[in-house]
Amino acid sequence: MIGLAHSSTVGATEHAPDSRSFPQDFKWCVATAAHQIEGGNTQSDWWNFEKVPGVIRDGQSSGAACDHWNRLEQDSELLSALGVNQYRFSVEWAKIEPRPGEFDEEALTHYRHEIELLKARGIRPFVTLQHFTLPQWVADRGGFAWEGVPTAFEHYSRKVYEALGSEVQDWTTLNEPQALIAAGYIEGVFPPGLKDIKEIVAPAIGMIRSHARAYHALHEMAAAQDRKIRIGMAHHLRIFEPARRWNPFDHWAARFVQRFANWAILDALKTGRLQIHIPFVLNIDEMIPEAAETQDFIGLNYYSRDLIAFNPWKAGMIERLTRKDATVSDLGWEIYPEGIYRLAKKLHQRFPELSIYVTENGIADREDRQRELFIRAHLQEILRALEEGIPIEGYCYWSLMDNYEWAEGFGPRFGLYEVNYSTQERTLRPSGRWFSQLTRTGLLR
Ligand code: FCB
Repeated sequence: MIGLAHSSTVGATEHAPDSRSFPQDFKWCVATAAHQIEGGNTQSDWWNFEKVPGVIRDGQSSGAACDHWNRLEQDSELLSALGVNQYRFSVEWAKIEPRPGEFDEEALTHYRHEIELLKARGIRPFVTLQHFTLPQWVADRGGFAWEGVPTAFEHYSRKVYEALGSEVQDWTTLNEPQALIAAGYIEGVFPPGLKDIKEIVAPAIGMIRSHARAYHALHEMAAAQDRKIRIGMAHHLRIFEPARRWNPFDHWAARFVQRFANWAILDALKTGRLQIHIPFVLNIDEMIPEAAETQDFIGLNYYSRDLIAFNPWKAGMIERLTRKDATVSDLGWEIYPEGIYRLAKKLHQRFPELSIYVTENGIADREDRQRELFIRAHLQEILRALEEGIPIEGYCYWSLMDNYEWAEGFGPRFGLYEVNYSTQERTLRPSGRWFSQLTRTGLLR
């Protein structure tokens, strides 16, 4: 990690400001996740994980987070002021089903109310069923590695659909299974806090099976009501490049990480076969027939690029680095706008039948020095893709407001609104003001 950046330029590709416009029906969106903003997620695995000493930066736990649970009206006004026509948010399994088979009707009513508030403001809900967190009772049984998880997830998803389905057309099942597997089972920074690549097999299969079960269940319920819905998954994709161009081992390692981190799950959702091969370590080749053709669109979460070095002295023998000359965010993540174009292009080549929705893209930028440039540069790359006929239907900025950034605690500031956590006051940042003009005109000026 490189530390704070105070540069005023963004990324490797500089484009002159232009005034090209987005298609009329382009969806302008911001994204959040329940655990990061709502507060009081007491029945979740994260709530307990956060209390383990040393796992979260500065020992911060989510607590009341942004108190969004109690501020639905106010926060729907924030969305309105941004001029977005879509809002991607997650509903919290641990609140809806705090104990096995026991559904909390108040929690479901709460989310129904949230959706009504959005609709009254002309904002289309985009619901994620699971964004990193699990109910503690699921975690106790092994989380996504538990063989009962696909059935439990289907059961929960059906309940959510019964309560909210008549108002929601756009769904994502899971958020970033790739990231959850890496952080929870390889790096040990998310629950269950494991650091053993061999442990990824069962949860990877469990996630894909859970997604597939929810996908079929929701479609079946919608079809029975003659309703058309769309279901996808939000995938965390990154650009991986060899750290040393001259080093064939780095090339091999980068290609390998790419296949594992970017494509394995996406391919499984197309073919019904999950293949992950790590020489001498792990060989997954699992047929999951129910997962074949289970995406109606591809959710793309894009943040950054990594350089990959082969290092036999490192656990896992692979090292993730950042370019020395990179412009970076407050979290040290390289700002690399061209990556979004390159990934969209690859996605389109690999899955030409599916359209792409940028379900997350954003920057930790406490001082708001780089955010406008960051968004602008990524949108320019999206326009470039659109001009080449790559179907991108929308863009969600991450995030509506500052929030609890998992293992990084409350430090990183991703919001278009700044949050004062002592008073819960929200303040629109200058970049947020700019974004609200963009959403209204569709013109990148
Ligand atoms: C994404 C996560 C989201 C947030 C952003 C910064 O990978 O989906 O919850 O943490 O990163």
